[in-house]
Parts: sequence; structure tokens; C-alpha cells
Amino acid sequence: MNKSLKKLTAILLTVCLALALCACSSGGSSTSQGTDQSQPASEGQTTKAAQETGPAADDQAQSAETAAQTADTGVETADTAVEAADTAVSQTASTSATVAAAEQAEAINYLALVNKLNPLPEGWEDALETVHMTNSIGDDVEVEKKAYDAYLLLKEDLEKEGIYVDLDSARRSVAEQQRIMDDFTEKYGADYALKTVAQPGYSEHHTGLALDLYLIIDGKDVVENEDMIQYPEIWETIHSKLADYGFILRYLENKEHITGYGYEPWHIRYVDDVNVAKEIMASGVTLEGWLGAVNETDVEIDYGTSEIFTPEELAEAAIQIKCTFAGWKGCELHSLRYVGDEADKEENLQWLNSLNEEAGYTHVAEFLTDFHSPVEAGGAWEPDQEYKDYQWWLGRTDDGGWEVVTSGY
Ligand code: DAL
Ligand code: ZN
Repeated sequence: MNKSLKKLTAILLTVCLALALCACSSGGSSTSQGTDQSQPASEGQTTKAAQETGPAADDQAQSAETAAQTADTGVETADTAVEAADTAVSQTASTSATVAAAEQAEAINYLALVNKLNPLPEGWEDALETVHMTNSIGDDVEVEKKAYDAYLLLKEDLEKEGIYVDLDSARRSVAEQQRIMDDFTEKYGADYALKTVAQPGYSEHHTGLALDLYLIIDGKDVVENEDMIQYPEIWETIHSKLADYGFILRYLENKEHITGYGYEPWHIRYVDDVNVAKEIMASGVTLEGWLGAVNETDVEIDYGTSEIFTPEELAEAAIQIKCTFAGWKGCELHSLRYVGDEADKEENLQWLNSLNEEAGYTHVAEFLTDFHSPVEAGGAWEPDQEYKDYQWWLGRTDDGGWEVVTSGY
């Protein structure tokens, strides 16, 4: 792929993600998402309400503004991605062996974003070079060539620390991904499967750049997710070394609202450029956040006390807010707090149900946020302002999920 085509691909991918995420906060999606936080449905409700109420009318304008801002950022970050790829090329052009590596870097965008919103780029296989290996269980595993070389160096380094890993899975075909999805759905149910397994066509594993590790402990293979998760200290050591070999951890803890998947300590992603990998790992952001397609802010949440909702239920509600806020490009979230059980009263329930007549909400939760608008704000936000006690109203659905119905003052 030539440089301009690569640049265009990167731009299209990031803009596509940005717009899709904005669609998530500006309506047009399905209305019920159950417990799968990655689906954009609930944010659609915000705008539906925005069309019908005073305070939240701002949100609608903000959503449109966010679309434009996020698309701009997509272009900027695509440039960053291209620059990073170009750096990789220039650093490897001195010997014939490295010339081959440079051609490979030209061929594959190692920063390609494949997630719930972005399928495997078309024509990916045309440029892909893979190798096959056999793991300790005897399975054949196919991996992108440079990613495999880097993995071998990582593995060697880990062995010096007494940590033994092997490859459970790397490149997968669409048919294989479907088989895994079917297996998980049958074993654990659709909700868990959707939080854990990508839809065929939308798995990073199709790229050959995503590697699932398993552990070998005292000579025994530890392969099942629920078993592997029992070794947090080993994973911590593994994660501390990833960036040195051009890998990042892809599905971070507490980032489900950004990545669409729960924590996967075993799923590592090759991004090729060690400096980029180091920057991503040091910043603690997801690939989505680093590419600039979403507004990824972390904040302590004050859940107060509730006699109606469990902490887990309130955490699910907060994820909905964070997911919506992620689309508010350039806004910095300072605090998020649960107002208290007094908001869950009949009058408020009727109000939310009047804003979204099809929903049939059973409970109400109100949260408050403080946040800062971007220095060069447009649309609904005053530039460079601290917004205090900004309200978020959520409705509880029949199936126990939450939807942001409206927000504003
Ligand atoms: N487990 C990751 C999300 C996949 O199936 O691609
Ligand atoms: Zn994986």
C-alpha cells in the first residue's frame, strides 16, 4: 500500500469510529442494550429526550458539535498513525533484511483499529504475511510474521523471570470466530459471549496482530479464562514487558465502555513501533483513546449510599454515563456522583417515561457531574468553563439495564 493510500485508510478508519461513536450519543440506534455496555443504544435515548425537553436541547447541539470535533481529531490522529508508521519505515531501511521489514510496514497498518465498530479492513489479507507455529497443546497457530518474531523475544525475556507462556490463538478466520461465538453463547449465554467474543468480521484476531497467551505453570497448561485470571502477579510482569517488544494490552480493566469488552489480560496486540507501544502502555489509555477517537477520562465515582440499588447496579449506570461522555470530545470529566435514592420517585419516573414512551422505565437514578469544556468550545458549550452539578437522568429498563434518558441543567 502506498503512503497516501495508507494515510487515507487510517483517516477513514478513525473518522468512521468517531462518527459511529457520535451516532451513539446522537440517536439512531436500537433502544435496549441490556447489560452489554458496548452497544450505543442508550445514548440514542439522550437525544430523543433532547428533542423534547428544554435542558437537554443543548445535548443535541452538542452531539452535532461532537461529531465535527471528533471527526477532526480522527484526521489528526490518523496523521499521527501515519507518522508513526513512517518512522518505523525510516528506522529500518539500512540493510537488506530491514528493507524487507520496511516493505512489510508499508503493507500493513500496524495501528489499524478493528473493534465493534470497525471490521477488518478490506484487502487486509493481500498484504498479510503470516507464519504457523505449534503450541504446547499441539494446536496450529497462525500469526503475522513480525508479531511472531516479537512474541518470541518477549517469551524469551519472560522465561528469564521464570514465566512460561504459549500462544493459544492468534489469527482467526471469520468461520473460526463464528465457531467461538457459538461455543461461548451455548456455554455462558449471549450476554457474556457478546462481552467476551467479537462478532465474526469484527475481531482483532482477523488481523493476525492479536495474540492470546496462555500460561504454563509448574509444567501444566493453564488455558481457560477463569483459570488464567487467578494469576494477577504473573500478568502484571507480562504486561510490564509488552511495550519493549511492540505489544500493548488491548482490553484493559474498567475500559469496557470504550473497548466493548471486559478485561482480558491474555489478549495482546502488536503495534510494531516500540515507542508507540510504550506511550500507549504508559498512558493507560486504550487504542481507541490513543487514536483520539473517543474522549477517555478516568474519574473516581462517588456512589454514595443506596437502599434501592446495589453498588454493581450503580456501577452499570455510571458506565452508561461514561460511554456518553466519551463522545464529548475535549471535555474533561472531574467528578461523577450518585445523587441519592430520593430521585427514584413516581414524579420523576413519569417524567422519564414521558420522554421515552416506549421504554417503560421501572426506576430512576440521578447522577451529577463536574466537567470542564474545551478551551475552544463551540456549539452548546461555553469555552474553557467548569460545568458544575450537571445532571444525568437514567431510567432502569425491564431487563435490569440502564439508559441515559436526558442530561443537562
Ligand atoms: N476476545 C476478543 C474480543 C475477540 O474475540 O476478538
Ligand atoms: Zn484475543
